[in-house]
Amino acid sequence: MVDDFKKIPTNERIIVALDCDHDEALAIAESLSGLATWVKVGMTLYYACGPRIVEELKGLGFKVFLDLKLFDIPHQVRGATCSAVASGADMLTVHASGGIEMMQAAMEGASDAVSRYGIDKPSIIGVTVLTSFDDSGLRQIGIERASGEQVALLGSCVAQAGLDGVVCSPHEAYALRSILGPSSLVVTPGVRLASSTSDDQKRVATPSFAFGQGASHIVVGRPITQAQDRRKAFEQIAQEG
Ligand code: C5P
Repeated sequence: MVDDFKKIPTNERIIVALDCDHDEALAIAESLSGLATWVKVGMTLYYACGPRIVEELKGLGFKVFLDLKLFDIPHQVRGATCSAVASGADMLTVHASGGIEMMQAAMEGASDAVSRYGIDKPSIIGVTVLTSFDDSGLRQIGIERASGEQVALLGSCVAQAGLDGVVCSPHEAYALRSILGPSSLVVTPGVRLASSTSDDQKRVATPSFAFGQGASHIVVGRPITQAQDRRKAFEQIAQEG
């Protein structure tokens, strides 16, 4: 089922999360130049630097996953997506919990940017249930369903909205791949080599497990960015995939 993605070299399926300040992000990116294809800009880096960080990383030759997890009324999300796409990001996130109409508005915002600025449409993917939530956390906000069922429900909403894929835990990748089909993006953070520490990630999985469950891409931060030899750390992860 995931054969489409298996044809892509593993190093192009690893997204390096740059959760740091501007100078460190550029230093890390430069240290991985020619080896890594994708980097991820999250809220910490983006709110510190603005769209120029996307432009700078694109200038270094990377594809940029802009992980801003948009969640607002559809009108606002349409505009925010249009603005974010204008920065040149290749992949963007919205919260699937924002609903089908909101996700469709994100797709419209991306199309607005494509026609306004003549740029390629990035992939828009939906965050299902954050991996920091467990069943008791969901109950606190009125969701009685188990997290796995909630993830599947949100996966169906992502499919109905016509998004390009999802972000989920490796443990949910198989179920979502089944719902979304073979060509969908299934991006999984929370990935660690069996030999490394899990940091603050609760339900970690190895790269081979994540890919085996149908992940199209894995997100890896600290095991690469904080390694003494980042290129070696990246290569070890790529080899396992
Ligand atoms: O350093 P580490 O590999 O734990 O970084 C994982 C990255 O994936 C971070 O940027 C984090 O924000 C992101 N992420 C996550 N869990 C999610 C969604 C995103 O760890 N459910």
